[in-house]
Amino acid sequence: MFLGEDTGLDRHRSGRADLGELPGPIHARTRAPSAPGCVFSRHVKKVLIDCDPGIDDALALALIAGSRDALDLVGVTTVGGNVDLSLTTANALALREFLDLGDVPVTPGSAGALLRHTVRATVHGTSGLGTVVLPAPARGPSPGHAVDFIVDTLRAAPGEITLVGTGPLTNLALAVRKEPRVVEWARDLVIMGGSYTRGNHTPAAEFNMLADPEAAAIAFEAGWTVTMVGLDVTLTAVVNTAVLDRMRPLGRLAELLVPGAQSYKEVTDDGGPAIHDACAVAYVLDPSLFTCVPAVVNVETAGVHTRGMTVTDFTVPGGRANALVATALDVPGFWELMFGAYGRLSARLG
Ligand code: BDR
Ligand code: CA
Repeated sequence: MFLGEDTGLDRHRSGRADLGELPGPIHARTRAPSAPGCVFSRHVKKVLIDCDPGIDDALALALIAGSRDALDLVGVTTVGGNVDLSLTTANALALREFLDLGDVPVTPGSAGALLRHTVRATVHGTSGLGTVVLPAPARGPSPGHAVDFIVDTLRAAPGEITLVGTGPLTNLALAVRKEPRVVEWARDLVIMGGSYTRGNHTPAAEFNMLADPEAAAIAFEAGWTVTMVGLDVTLTAVVNTAVLDRMRPLGRLAELLVPGAQSYKEVTDDGGPAIHDACAVAYVLDPSLFTCVPAVVNVETAGVHTRGMTVTDFTVPGGRANALVATALDVPGFWELMFGAYGRLSARLG
């Protein structure tokens, strides 16, 4: 997808009708080796990220910031999720300047879920960024609402923009409701959310799905193919001691990464936090790091104990899949990608 090759994944890009016969797991290890220094670019992908920073959202934004050669960030939209919208927006604004993201617009969106009570995460601390303290931003948010920004931005560049969702899907669902053609206009939708094996906020539900299950259901039922980068893979992207040690020498960037990872309370069995949201951006940068399987994903909205669960059926007949579900991650490859980007960003930030 980056190198102009047909990895097989392009066929899964733009709507369930394109899925055709179910091919089983997609191991995108088919591309030719790249020349040194040409790992990513011939095509720069346009990306719009809808997020709720959030420590791992911040680390995802840092991955974008360090991947200028491969990604053109056209917008950041914010949603209430990990913490209130005022804080996710304030964090996004501070991150835009700290990470040298230029004049990319930051547009606030929905404060809470479409229908039900608000759910917040506690693992990111009261500010949303743990113990990280960033300089106060000089610039404020863009006027208008995230939903309008998403619709207008996709309308202006049909087929070009990959949407990345790393928070509750409220803004994206409202965009679909407001202008159903966003489903055709988006190049891709890649989300961090859900799981086919387990939850993290409840035994059944992953946080972003639980925080707005009705919105997630709308997103999965909209007619496009949702690439679901869920807990099944993100829980393997763990900042363990060795990873933390690689973050320490990264200058100013380390002032975000290290205290962020240390104060992120989403601790896994492997002894460190999983940086879920960075995995969704990593997928956009290099899908070959992931194994993906087409499936039908339905979001449970009515269950007492299973609300927000992403019920995943890998046995559906060809053509009916609405999702491409990540089932495995090349973890060493993921960290090489991450530290390549973080190294470049650190060189810029000093
Ligand atoms: C997701 O929930 C949030 O707390 C994180 O930012 C991530 O998007 C992981 O379940
Ligand atoms: Ca998030």
